[in-house]
Amino acid sequence: MRSPDMPTHPDIALPRLIAHRGLSAHAPENTLVAVRAAHEAGFQWVELDVQLLGDGTPVIWHDATLMRCSDGHGRLATLDLAAVRKLDVGGWFGDGFRGECMATLSDMLELLVELDMSVNMELKVTSRRSGTELAEVVVPRLLRALPPERLILSSFDQPALNHARTLADASLLPIGVLTESVPEKWCSRCEALNAYSIHTDWTRLTARRAREIKAAGYHLLCYTPNDPMAFANRWTWGVDSAISDDPALFAGIAPPPDQAQA
Ligand code: G3P
Ligand code: MG
Repeated sequence: MRSPDMPTHPDIALPRLIAHRGLSAHAPENTLVAVRAAHEAGFQWVELDVQLLGDGTPVIWHDATLMRCSDGHGRLATLDLAAVRKLDVGGWFGDGFRGECMATLSDMLELLVELDMSVNMELKVTSRRSGTELAEVVVPRLLRALPPERLILSSFDQPALNHARTLADASLLPIGVLTESVPEKWCSRCEALNAYSIHTDWTRLTARRAREIKAAGYHLLCYTPNDPMAFANRWTWGVDSAISDDPALFAGIAPPPDQAQA
């Protein structure tokens, strides 16, 4: 249970639908064009992944390697900004996206500010990399760019979130605890971080756990439902938001944001 003497969270207007990696069903994931596509489709919030290149530059990217989503090869941990700037990160998705460049965190924050958008930024810690170092680089930049009510920082990596919390309290930095399956000890983990939310795989959430989380005062987000009918009963369990590759599919099915849950 959230204690009343903990710093309070910003008043976030949490939407029902968040575009996962930008509008990734319709544009190359984690790119500037995918965020513009989300905005054009009417979605105010995007989820994005951030990690560090070998030279310490934070970039918006999901995988540890370039292979799946670019015309290059290699591990991000061994590359510098000059090398990744030469890559095409759109052509793999479709010819119309050829020429898209990998976005740095700085590029992406500039776009989010320009479009007046909000972000769930996931600290993506790939094997053998430091979540603490990632948080140290990313958190101050997020806080400078966006007001706290337009930001949720999440990660599967405990050291990353622990360090993030040492950099800013809950009134400045809403933290989301990311889990594949909500563990038995979810509540102590959320209390220790003064978390704003829990984000979990929608296929592994149970109604009982969802109701416990809501009763304890946390927000509950699910990734990555793309079938609104299969997801429909999760709204009745109290789920606040769905992080979807194709959130437009949920139009007319997701309840309005302010509707009380059953
Ligand atoms: O933040 C929700 C979701 O993005 C977590 O998994 O692998 O898609 O980054 P992944
Ligand atoms: Mg992610």
